[in-house]
Amino acid sequence: MNLYPIWVRRETPAATETLSETIPSLLDWPELKEKVKNCELCPLRAGCKQTVFGVGNEKAEWLFVGEGPGAEEDARGEPFVGQAGRLLDNMLLAIGLKRSDVYIANVVKCRPPSNRQPHASEMAACLPYLENQIALIQPKIIVALGRTAASALLNTDAAISSLRGRVHEHRGIPVVVSFHPAYLLRTPLDKAKSWQDLCLASETVGRS
Ligand code: URA
Repeated sequence: MNLYPIWVRRETPAATETLSETIPSLLDWPELKEKVKNCELCPLRAGCKQTVFGVGNEKAEWLFVGEGPGAEEDARGEPFVGQAGRLLDNMLLAIGLKRSDVYIANVVKCRPPSNRQPHASEMAACLPYLENQIALIQPKIIVALGRTAASALLNTDAAISSLRGRVHEHRGIPVVVSFHPAYLLRTPLDKAKSWQDLCLASETVGRS
């Protein structure tokens, strides 16, 4: 079964390849929201309450990408509204941003059962939606929160520790990799490193 919607090419793009080169027929916001709402491309949809599209300023300079909805996100239909989301809100405040200033999305739009990591096939099926969101937003910076987001955006299996501290690219858009807020809740000592990552992202936005 071909899990890919026909409107996005299957191959992983080169980091420098621009979105318009690889996504020939972008959907606009209403079309994309409708498509995600009705998506049944992978088995995750059958096990969740609703799809969680993404939220925020559709013309934001900052895009934060997490892994996938948890229980609270699944219940409310909005990303990062649980405990990890409250930490993310505080991280945003620390760099002078409100939730409504940025855009927040996930790699997969449906909650994986028991909050397990999404499988590669589920990520591959859902990634075109994130790609379309990125193309519509055209952010100045993408902050990849955790390994799943980093691996989806940068096509790598590398550990967060080896990806932090420098600016990567996804289709010409700068990407900074940082810890997932849920990890920071368990490992608060790494909040200082997370602050460094946000400063790097902020400098990158300032340079653009
Ligand atoms: N964790 C994520 O990766 N995304 C959410 O939306 C919530 C928790």
